[in-house]
Order: sequence, then C-alpha cells, then structure tokens
Amino acid sequence: MKKRIVVTGGSGKAGKWIIKDLIEHGYEVLNLDWKLPEERLCQTLIVDLNDLGQVHNALSQLSIRDRQPVEAVIHFAAIPEAFIYPNDVTFRNNVMNTYNILEAAANLNISKVVLASSESSYGIVFANQFFAPNYLPIDESHPQLSEDSYGLSKMVNEMTGEAFHRRTGMQVISFRLGNILEPKDYPRVRQTFETPEERVRILWSYIDVRDMAAACRLAVEKDGLGAQAIILAADDTSTNLPSEELINQFMPELAEYAEQLPGRASFLSNAKLKEMLGWQQQHFFMEQ
Ligand SMILES: NC(=O)c1ccc[n+]([C@@H]2O[C@H](COP(=O)([O-])OP(=O)(O)OC[C@H]3O[C@@H](n4cnc5c(N)ncnc54)[C@H](O)[C@@H]3O)[C@@H](O)[C@H]2O)c1
Repeated sequence: MKKRIVVTGGSGKAGKWIIKDLIEHGYEVLNLDWKLPEERLCQTLIVDLNDLGQVHNALSQLSIRDRQPVEAVIHFAAIPEAFIYPNDVTFRNNVMNTYNILEAAANLNISKVVLASSESSYGIVFANQFFAPNYLPIDESHPQLSEDSYGLSKMVNEMTGEAFHRRTGMQVISFRLGNILEPKDYPRVRQTFETPEERVRILWSYIDVRDMAAACRLAVEKDGLGAQAIILAADDTSTNLPSEELINQFMPELAEYAEQLPGRASFLSNAKLKEMLGWQQQHFFMEQ
C-alpha cells in the first residue's frame, strides 16, 4: 500500500508542486485547503484549518477508512505575506492553523510534520525601514527580528513546532523559505535585473518550486531530526549582479563579508539543508 502524506495549502502556489512531486515518488496524497485547486492532482478536503475539530476529523477520517496511518503532514497553508489582510487576521490564521495541525497530529500519533516558515522571519522583508543583516550569509543562528505580524507568525510557528517536539518527540522541520519561483515566474524576475532595489528586501533570494518540493519530501523521508529550523534557498541569487556589487551598493557596512559570497552566491546559507537532508539544487536561475 502506498504511504500516505497530507499536504495543507495544496490548492496554492507551492502546495501543488509538493503534491505533484509526492505523487511522482509513489505517495498517496490528501490536500487540506479551504478552497479547491485549479487542477485536480489528488483528493482535496475543504477544511478551515483554524477549526481544530475539522482538522482532527480530516486527519483521522482517512486512518479510520482503511486503518492506514498518515505518515506525515506537510503544512503550507497560510496567508503568505504581510499587509494583504489586517495584521491580526494574518497572525491569527497562520498561528492557529499551525497549532491545530500540530495538536491533531500529536493526538493521532503522526510522527512527522513539515512547516513552511519564511525568510520573512528575519524581519527585513516587511520592516518599516530597511535594515541590513547582522552578518552574511544569513544562517539559522541569525536573530529573527520581525516587527510585522506575518514574520512574527512564522517565528511563533517555529516555537510551536519545538514545543510539540518536546511534548511527543515528533519530528518538526520548519523551512525558512526564500522567494518561491515557479517556472512561469522567471521571465518576470529577469525583468528586475536593471532595478535590483526591487528585490533587496528579500536579499535577491529564490527557491525553485521543484527544488522546494524535493526538500519537503526529503524532510519526511529522514528520521530522527528532532525539531529544526532550516533555510531553504538556492545556492545563487535571482539577479545578474555579483553579490559583492550588491553588498557595496545596498549594505556597504557589510563589505567585510563580501568574500564569503563569491560570484552570485546567495545571501541565505543553505549549508544546514545540504548537511541534514542531503539536498542538492537542480534548478539554477540562469538556466531557467
Ligand atoms: N510564496 C513565497 O515566496 C513564500 C516565501 C516564504 C514562505 N512562504 C510560505 O509558503 C507557504 C505557501 O505559500 P504560497 O505562496 O503557496 O501561498 P498561497 O496563498 O498560494 O497558498 C496558501 C494556501 O493556503 C490556503 N489556506 C490559507 N489559510 C488557510 C486555512 N486557515 N485553512 C485552509 N486553507 C488555508 C489558501 O487557500 C491557499 O490555497 C505559506 O505558508 C507561506 O507563508 C511562501
């Protein structure tokens, strides 16, 4: 029998690629989302993840039907940025739906959960005033300095994941994602080559959806990782300028770190991702 994985937010941008990848690798997938996807890749249950009763019911319904457990939940459902809803709505939705997934997973003995955290948790993306990182490249030890409710929701979710790991021993991997790019996004991003300031807030980061989906699969296939926050970003940036030139132009106070970012090296380190999951990038910006 195929192993079963639940994906939340599978009707959205990132989720559909995760579902596609899992199906291609022999998994049975159930999507939980409060809207239907444009294209049907697997069964979708319409669920408001803010309601613990619905989350519990959705996760247990499957196991009861044929007594086959859910192996893991890959939780990507969220309001994916600040300032599109009032701050409290974003915070409540993202924090409560994550709490509910973890609570239900814990009660149902689901032993692995992957959470979509964000580079926004470092605070630069949605800060009132741009500020430079403390050092480069940013790694998992860099302080998370959010002042907006979206970045804050991701910080809280990582802590919630750690709490559930302490409670039950479940493996919780929180991916701090860079800007997610689908194949159709590349031409639009290439148009910003002349205006690098447009992507300074995300430090020119990106992660190809296919490489992102592979990382999610690796995170549920590995055992014994505990609770981990891991940056999920490409090796390179999404601009044509050398990283040294970007540092000199936009954050000259960090010039001493330029030699750590040769060529178009990313401002976000993915060393932990490679070390813990054995992930390797397959899709590079300049080849898309
Ligand atoms: N897009 C990016 O560049 C980016 C970068 C970093 C992190 N992330 C994170 O990755 C995840 C996916 O982002 P995306 O760009 O695919 O967003 P998206 O908006 O395209 O997809 C999110 C999905 O979640 C669903 N959803 C939201 N709240 C829900 C709820 N309470 N109950 C049920 N369904 C709910 C929505 O209907 C939607 O289909 C999010 O957690 C986001 O914060 C995205």
